[in-house]
Amino acid sequence: MPSYQYETLAVHAGQHPDPLTGAVNVPLYLSSTFELTGIGTDKGWDYSRAGNPTRDRLELALAALESNGRPGVKGFAFATGMAAISALLAHLHSGDHLICSHNVYGGTARLLDQIISHYGIAIQYVDMGNLDALRAAIRPNTKLIYCETPSNPLMQLTDIRAVAEIAHAHGIEVSVDNTFLSPMLQSPLELGADIVMHSTTKFLNGHSDGLGGALITTTQQQAERTLLVQKAVGATLSPLECFLILRGIKTLPLRMRQHEENGRAIAAWLATHPKVKQVNYPGLATHPQHALAVRQQKGFGSMMSIDLGSVEAARRFLAAIRIFLNAESLGGVESLASHSSTTTHAALSPERKLEMGITEGLVRLSIGIEHKDDLIADLEQALAAIG
Ligand SMILES: Cc1ncc(COP(=O)(O)O)c(C=O)c1O
Repeated sequence: MPSYQYETLAVHAGQHPDPLTGAVNVPLYLSSTFELTGIGTDKGWDYSRAGNPTRDRLELALAALESNGRPGVKGFAFATGMAAISALLAHLHSGDHLICSHNVYGGTARLLDQIISHYGIAIQYVDMGNLDALRAAIRPNTKLIYCETPSNPLMQLTDIRAVAEIAHAHGIEVSVDNTFLSPMLQSPLELGADIVMHSTTKFLNGHSDGLGGALITTTQQQAERTLLVQKAVGATLSPLECFLILRGIKTLPLRMRQHEENGRAIAAWLATHPKVKQVNYPGLATHPQHALAVRQQKGFGSMMSIDLGSVEAARRFLAAIRIFLNAESLGGVESLASHSSTTTHAALSPERKLEMGITEGLVRLSIGIEHKDDLIADLEQALAAIG
């Protein structure tokens, strides 16, 4: 698809009318298998694990949103974000070395530490804010640098362009988890990344009603190996969830505008509140990487975390919220709050959490698209309930 603006791509990329019936919406093909036209011939599909017409459309849409018209970019949909990360890592071999940003979603660290490390792959966490530390960590067998930016839940950023330059000088691939900003607010491929990863469960779907994950690749070799993992491992996305994400994508630009407006207003308000010890939001001029956020992001989004000082303060706050829901996940139209230490990062040891900066009083906020005045009033009464 040509490089249209996001609003146009979101409605039309991969979402052209059905050639058979003219249906304006992508048909939901629930068939697990497809009639063959002969021996070794088919109409484009044979078995849904290997390829499904509804999934194909979502994969086209994902590639269009991340590629900005760059040729050769391909999308691949997986059952969850974790399945997408697993598929990314599936091409690593015993003896390979992987560098991962030290601040990542707890599930990603759990996958690396408790599963991937069993396969003889060396994993090293590096503070990507320190490019000298990154240079020093690179070994002859380093195959992949995995970044999550902004990071969950501390909103630490990785300079994608700088990391890609260092990595490419050593022939190393760079992947970026773009879940927190969506393709609307950050384009890792434009900044030099090789592969983009998404938990489509979040902003891309946007309605908290389906899981999903995606990889967006840039080379033929990456596409071939990712297709092989889809077929061979089989953690592909169900057609129903592909359909729901396609529907969600149509309003992604509209939703992201509202998320962004609310996120900025609420972060600014929280930053002045005496009960809030710290607000982690790259859109605030006080964020240590604000200049990088301005340079590499197209917006600041609606993810942030706040430190309330103690687990007791966090407990009272979460018990008092009325519009915000005390729930894991993020990126849906509804505002959510969650206690990072016992939810998204529960799998990590207390020492690792402290080393990352995840304190007992840390609460992550995913700001939805409700009216910001109602959200601020809700936060105000919940913060008052801390006592
Ligand atoms: C940044 C990030 N990446 C990946 C994932 C995993 O996605 P999923 O829950 O769809 O498996 C999450 C889940 O919260 C996440 O926040």
